[in-house]
Amino acid sequence: MEHRVALLGFGVVGQGFAEIVLNKKQQLENEYGLNISIVAVSDLMKGSVYHPEGLSVEDLLKVIKETGSFDAYPDYPGLIRGLDSFETIANTNAETIVEVTFTDVQTGQPAIDHCKHAFNHGKNVIMSNKGPVALAFQELNTLAQQNKVRWGYEGSVMSGTPALRMATTSLAGNDITEIQGIFNGTTNYMLTRMEEGLSYEEALKEAQQLGYAEANPTNDVEGYDALYKIVILSNVLLNYPIKMDAVERVGISRLTNKDIEQAKNEGKRWKLIARLMKTSDGISASVKPEMIALNHPLASINGATNAISYHCDLLGPVTLIGAGAGKSETGFSILIDLINIHRRQL
Ligand code: HSE
Repeated sequence: MEHRVALLGFGVVGQGFAEIVLNKKQQLENEYGLNISIVAVSDLMKGSVYHPEGLSVEDLLKVIKETGSFDAYPDYPGLIRGLDSFETIANTNAETIVEVTFTDVQTGQPAIDHCKHAFNHGKNVIMSNKGPVALAFQELNTLAQQNKVRWGYEGSVMSGTPALRMATTSLAGNDITEIQGIFNGTTNYMLTRMEEGLSYEEALKEAQQLGYAEANPTNDVEGYDALYKIVILSNVLLNYPIKMDAVERVGISRLTNKDIEQAKNEGKRWKLIARLMKTSDGISASVKPEMIALNHPLASINGATNAISYHCDLLGPVTLIGAGAGKSETGFSILIDLINIHRRQL
């Protein structure tokens, strides 16, 4: 069955998703009967193209790689250019909007407005931006329900590693009393490298060169990125809307090589631990460096890898380890939400 999608934004995640659509076309059709047709792409910097019968994914990727703009996309009858993101939502025949714009995490914009516009026009949204799920979860959920559309956001925590879906599907029926996690690849990579002898500055520089860090690395090193993810987990999994400023937040910027050495001598290791705990009067949440024993389930998570540990009443602790960012990893998060919309499981 054909599923028509429009992409808002064609950066790393948008291109990652498009590459998967191109490379797995046959597999998706054979295994799931899913034929993804990208009908429109609109990017603030690269321009936009729309064709109601679908675009050539190969050409989309090729012109961006070669020229950085959709101006070079081959013309053919029926091709429409120049639609902005809101027109792409309202005036195309896409059923699902893939929202992968460059969104300011502190305001959640433009992704929040894109979601509202899409829901009001009866379109599903799939996204990996954190802002809307952290800042406007209840409002957007209600709007999506009122308009009988689907909203997928698996990629907002741990990219395609199914941190959200694991809890809502495979662990359903458990009471999850506590969640602990390593949700920021940059800081975890830095701590691993500092244990290997690098200074804080050298480790940060490497994390930036490897593309792990946010455009503004303060979001990583001061714990804001992990804080947003904790708020999302509380919204989505515990149905408990916590405010950002109710979460204790301490980054890793004050950790010195001396602190790292001291932990080593005590048979321990520093990790930036994000924690969400049910208490008798609500929720307690924190993001802060913790010195954990080497046999702790999160102690062996090294480099940019992420992990989440759920404490379940029926099952005890369950830990999921996987990627937290990346082109194909976050592209996959879009794909899995789309497959689940197609299977009517979202
Ligand atoms: N900068 C983030 C990290 C990317 O280092 O994990 C994913 O939000």
